[in-house]
Amino acid sequence: MDSENLLVTGGCGFIGSNFIRHLLARENFRGRIINADSLTYAGNPDNLSGIAEAHPGRYLFEKTDICDLPALKAIFARHGIDAVCHFAAESHVDRSIKRPDSFIQTNILGTFNLLEAARAAGSRFRLFHHISTDEVYGSLGPEGYFTEETPYRPNSPYSASKASSDHLVRAYHETYGLPTTLSNCSNNYGPYQFPEKLIPLIVLNALERKPLPVYGDGKNVRDWLYVTDHCEAIRTIMEKGRRGETYNIGGHAEMENIAIVEMICDLVDELAPAGVSRRCLITFVKDRPGHDRRYAIDFSKLHGELGWSPAESFVSGLRKTVRWYLENRGWSERIRSGAYQSWIREHYGV
Ligand code: NAD
Ligand code: DAU
Repeated sequence: MDSENLLVTGGCGFIGSNFIRHLLARENFRGRIINADSLTYAGNPDNLSGIAEAHPGRYLFEKTDICDLPALKAIFARHGIDAVCHFAAESHVDRSIKRPDSFIQTNILGTFNLLEAARAAGSRFRLFHHISTDEVYGSLGPEGYFTEETPYRPNSPYSASKASSDHLVRAYHETYGLPTTLSNCSNNYGPYQFPEKLIPLIVLNALERKPLPVYGDGKNVRDWLYVTDHCEAIRTIMEKGRRGETYNIGGHAEMENIAIVEMICDLVDELAPAGVSRRCLITFVKDRPGHDRRYAIDFSKLHGELGWSPAESFVSGLRKTVRWYLENRGWSERIRSGAYQSWIREHYGV
């Protein structure tokens, strides 16, 4: 990737922090990363601890809200930003159902602001990569896959806000010639995922012998991708993807939720034996309103044009992930106790 000053938004979240680690570890990336993150409940500076020291002068943090356009423009000017990789978003579907407001602000208006800042940067600006989701396509029946041609049919406030941001990115390319790429990815899992999402929630609850909530009949299907495979797909698209194009990213790993929960129970039993199977903690609960039944991604465009395919299988990736959460109990305990939020208030006064 030939960016000299890459703005990563939402770099303290799950995928953003994995992406920053992934990119800085690559020998052929020689640029600087400026991480703009407002540190919401999901943003955790600890996800990048040691990174600035390991890469002197190549990683900078700016505590910034992407809804603040003057602040974004100042960052572009101060750091000579020539590319953007845009992760920052409100990302949890259940929260969007309870309180959609911040999803509209961050995911739609925040993306609009970033596009405006990129447009104002003029000819030195090389690439705006927008991270989106397969949820914009809606829900599949028992057969078939989402392709880049599948019509958008978002079903939750979260996916509708992401769909809206995708349309803005497309429009800025078509109308203003902004160099853009866009990726729609399936469910990620791996280290540093906030424990409100299915996999880390179930691992931690299983360890603590709390109920394991499964929505509805547990037969909803997601296509799972290990987070570093997503990071490598993004890097590949930014480096070689055609400008103005969209690429789907998936894991070819369709799983019913109940099967995943059972696999996690068995892994936790094996790695942290408790004398009784964690499967007895499984609790079927009321379904999520508008719960999409099935997602599955056709990523043949990304594979055929750019040669990417996932490296991790679901079985090996899930084992690695469960092990990581077991070995990093301090991380999740600090999150669950609200310790990071107190630290942020102390350091930034908000
Ligand atoms: P996350 O919730 O873990 O992290 C989001 C980050 O964005 C946090 O660091 C948060 O502080 C920051 N942020 C939120 N609002 C902000 C604002 N107004 N200004 C600046 N920063 C702000 O999310 P994630 O799971 O890492 O997802 C990252 C991106 O990938 C999102 O755009 C999401 O839609 C997309 N995505 C996620 C998945 C998945 O499975 N997690 C799959 C496909 C696409
Ligand atoms: O598909 C990509 C999307 O994947 C991303 O765009 C979102 O940002 C990300 O949060 C994720 O959305 P999901 O809604 O699929 O993820 P979640 O982990 O919340 O739920 C996964 C499945 O598990 C879903 O079918 C709902 C179910 N579930 C979830 C939770 C939190 C449960 O059965 N019980 C739970 O407690």
